[in-house]
Amino acid sequence: MSTNITPQDLEKVNSQAEDFLPLLGTDYVELYVGNAKQAAYYYQTAWGFQPVAYAGLETGRKDSVSYVLQQDKIRLVLTSPLQPDGDINAHINAHGDGVKVVALWVDDATKSYEETVKRGAKSYMKPRTEKDKNGTVVFSGIHTYGETVHIFVERKNYNGTFLPGYMPWDKTYKTEAVGLKFIDHMVGNVGWNEMNKWCEFYAKVMGFAQLVSFDDKDISTEYTALMSKVMSNGNGRIKFPINEPAEGRKKSQIEEYIDFYNGAGVQHMALATDNIIETVSALHNRGVEFLTVPASYYETVLDRVGEIDEDLAPLKELGILIDRDDEGYLLQIFTKPVLDRPTMFFEIIQRKGAQSFGKGNFKALFEAIEREQEQRGTL
Ligand code: FE2
Repeated sequence: MSTNITPQDLEKVNSQAEDFLPLLGTDYVELYVGNAKQAAYYYQTAWGFQPVAYAGLETGRKDSVSYVLQQDKIRLVLTSPLQPDGDINAHINAHGDGVKVVALWVDDATKSYEETVKRGAKSYMKPRTEKDKNGTVVFSGIHTYGETVHIFVERKNYNGTFLPGYMPWDKTYKTEAVGLKFIDHMVGNVGWNEMNKWCEFYAKVMGFAQLVSFDDKDISTEYTALMSKVMSNGNGRIKFPINEPAEGRKKSQIEEYIDFYNGAGVQHMALATDNIIETVSALHNRGVEFLTVPASYYETVLDRVGEIDEDLAPLKELGILIDRDDEGYLLQIFTKPVLDRPTMFFEIIQRKGAQSFGKGNFKALFEAIEREQEQRGTL
């Protein structure tokens, strides 16, 4: 089992991953939420996202409203229903606020649909063209784990603000960005014994290859455990780790998620920054809550990871974790769940060479999560 990603691993991924589904990047992530207006204010005010586009009653949409926010390459869409019943209400009722769509940017949405459906993907949306004065966008979509879907977005003939049907959202209220750059990886939690099934889905249906695998011996504390495999597309721009619960003396955090999300779904988005100390300081000052590790973590961390460019003091003060692999090191920190249900959270990550996922921090991190579970009575 490989725990650190070497250049050979990446080569293996490149040769194994088939190019029938070339992905240019993550196009957007859409959350279905109970109150998109207030969620938009939260992501603007606390996270420094900028207002980009809007669709709702003012644009002729009668049943739902969507706010589009962006920070560098990260684009969030927050959608709420305006009427009772319908898919969005059902989704919120079952899952609480959560990620519905992980949209992938492609050159050819029709081919993306045909290639994946041919390989066994369940159709969510047949290829569909939408137009406005700014051009044409082709969409298609397939189902993935739980009620989550991938929408393929072909926007090469479009130069509007976001998508047809949206108007620019020009808000006078603006906040300063906090230095978030792009989505480094996006993690799905699936049910007992479902990890391999969904990794096979990404391999077979979407042409991804497995980058790393962690078993319950890697990811366990005295009390709880989980298993994880990281799937990557050929160019490495899209990385989807998939977690499943594992047996421990107490309840796995993945099982807690599944209980409250009522099924499989997106557990966390890891957002990349070039300066984690500045980014996390800004988020902290705006009220974003992070998991903390005991001060003792910092007494031994440099023995484990060796020399780093940063001073240890601010890392310790903010609770930022450090790990190293063969290629370099990384700095990372995790928020508490950002929703009422203990479901989705964010990771902030700064890579300094390392291409791995912070295996050396798993134990300290999961102990921190257990302390939170204990308080929630869900351990
Ligand atoms: Fe992560």
